[in-house]
Amino acid sequence: MTNRLTITRPDDWHLHLRDGAMLAAVLPESARHFARALVMPNLVPPVVTGADARAYRERILAALPEGTGFTPLMTLYLTETTDPGDVAAAAAEELIAAVKLYPAGATTNSDSGVRDFDRVRGVLERMAEIGLPLCVHGEVTDEDVDIFDREAVFIERVLEPLRRATPGLRVVMEHVTTREGIEYVRSAPRDLAATLTTHHLVINRNHILAGGIRPHYYCLPVAKRESHRLALCEAATSGDPRFFLGTDSAPHADARKLAPCGCAGCFTAPDTMAILAHVFEEEGALDRLEGFTSRHGAAFYGLPENSERITLEKGEPVPAGGMLETGEGPVTIFDPGFPLAWRVVE
Ligand code: NCD
Ligand code: ZN
Repeated sequence: MTNRLTITRPDDWHLHLRDGAMLAAVLPESARHFARALVMPNLVPPVVTGADARAYRERILAALPEGTGFTPLMTLYLTETTDPGDVAAAAAEELIAAVKLYPAGATTNSDSGVRDFDRVRGVLERMAEIGLPLCVHGEVTDEDVDIFDREAVFIERVLEPLRRATPGLRVVMEHVTTREGIEYVRSAPRDLAATLTTHHLVINRNHILAGGIRPHYYCLPVAKRESHRLALCEAATSGDPRFFLGTDSAPHADARKLAPCGCAGCFTAPDTMAILAHVFEEEGALDRLEGFTSRHGAAFYGLPENSERITLEKGEPVPAGGMLETGEGPVTIFDPGFPLAWRVVE
């Protein structure tokens, strides 16, 4: 039995760091274990231009604890007025690593997202030319589509036509939550990949709704039925390089989660590596954890693997979850429903 595991330091390919007091509180939780993270641009107002990304990156670097070697990789929020020249310039100076597409109204702070895809064609074509990946929040927002079907319908109605219209565009389907999403990625050539979150490998929709409503398990895309969770675990542990970790750790103060209309998001950053070690061990795939957390994403983004390593050890299980105090109030840490035997020791 393996009780100790040393792997290349991981990267998080989908992370919400927020701003101000929340940024200061949550950033150390990612910087402790992760070398790099792809930082989501859905602030209010969103990070839209190269200049916005530069300013946000400065605020993140200023909030880093002394001596922490953590690199934020920035993204731009695609709007219908995004200037292809600005995107290309920001990519050329390696200020950004991707552009993020939110269908308007799909999730937290997505009002500035795209309604008419014809209006972003120029940007997408430029991105295909320069090889800059498009990260996609893959859900339709139509009121007549059931929330549990919105990812599958998005693939058919939006993603497939978009990819066909823009040959060569490199796309990451963010936080895939369905068997359909997994199958779509597998059926495509290598210019399509997907991130999987920590929490979607652990919870299904019963965790949110059965036996009482549990707002801390509510996120978008919403967790689906168990058969989908099993498909996600199979993909994550398969060793297929098209699947890699994007935690989608999305902190909200408890007051905003525990409300009549609560925010979507699970705050998974603090214990993600411990939870993933548990999941991969259960699947008999501990030897594939490193690919998922530390190699496949870097390869897709064309970045070198991290040279540092981290070590996880298995010991006495300790309770998971808990609370992080922030300047904006307490934030509940994701509880996977099992105690944590694995921990990052160095
Ligand atoms: C994210 C957030 O809170 O910013 N919430 C979530 O449930 N994942 C937005 C997002 O990535 O959809
Ligand atoms: Zn997200």
